[in-house]
Amino acid sequence: MNYGQLGWGKLNRLAQIFRPDSAGNAHTVMLAMDHPYFYGPTTGLEDPRRTITPLVPYADAISPAKGTLEYCLDPLVPTPVILRVTGGNSMTRREELSDEHIITSVEEAVRLNAVGVSVSVYIDTEHQAQTIRSLGKLANECSQCGLLVLGITAVGAKLEPMVKGEGEGSADFDAAKYFAHAGRIIQENGANIVKTYFVDNWEQVRDGIQVPIVIAGGKKIPEREALEFTAQAIAAGAEGVDMGRNIFQSEDPVAMIQAVRSVVHEGRSADDAFVLFNELQGAAG
Ligand code: R5P
Repeated sequence: MNYGQLGWGKLNRLAQIFRPDSAGNAHTVMLAMDHPYFYGPTTGLEDPRRTITPLVPYADAISPAKGTLEYCLDPLVPTPVILRVTGGNSMTRREELSDEHIITSVEEAVRLNAVGVSVSVYIDTEHQAQTIRSLGKLANECSQCGLLVLGITAVGAKLEPMVKGEGEGSADFDAAKYFAHAGRIIQENGANIVKTYFVDNWEQVRDGIQVPIVIAGGKKIPEREALEFTAQAIAAGAEGVDMGRNIFQSEDPVAMIQAVRSVVHEGRSADDAFVLFNELQGAAG
């Protein structure tokens, strides 16, 4: 993993969330649970105390917004927190999704003992400049206190169908080129970790970004398929995942997070991890 020239505080915080395997390669399984900041009570997160609590011991880091953190999660469980600090939008106005601002201060993140903050950046949208400026501001403030910045490549309403290959003109949309472009801008404006999506020709994304990369899970798909793209992403050089719905909306979330861990940390194939998922489900039943 490329740690760059960071100071002791940031390096120590990175080491808390990227855990080395027996060969010394550092990877992470972050559990994404920030969805309610703009989705409301997302399926599986209606009451995170029920669904998330049993998953936290298996996560290398968790990424909630402060409402879930303060009211639903046990402060005595020491899993590192990457706190979602941008928002101000809602799925009820999809056309305004990219209109995000900083809603939680770095001081608040420090008070909540976060190791880092996460910020969405909407490249090629109406609010591109505003979200890049938010990233830059947070990066400067976080550098003062050694907090990490996780920059999220957010696609917004206009680009979402293109990324899924569904929108008009999507056949000509080069997703790898877009995510390489967006991810590098996020790195250059101060992110220490880039969160992006796994797409065809992903090597182009990896090649253009030098900070650690974590892959978002996206919409719930069958467990075998989620394990497959995770394995492909790790093989292509991603340092881990920041996965939400494909874990907490799984038929068996505890089995699924362990299967994901086996791919990310043990290098299991998707087939082997799916066998593990089924065994763990069976064991629990
Ligand atoms: C989106 O902006 C949020 O940051 C989610 O945390 C992110 O999309 C990852 O969650 P999921 O794996 O459910 O896509």
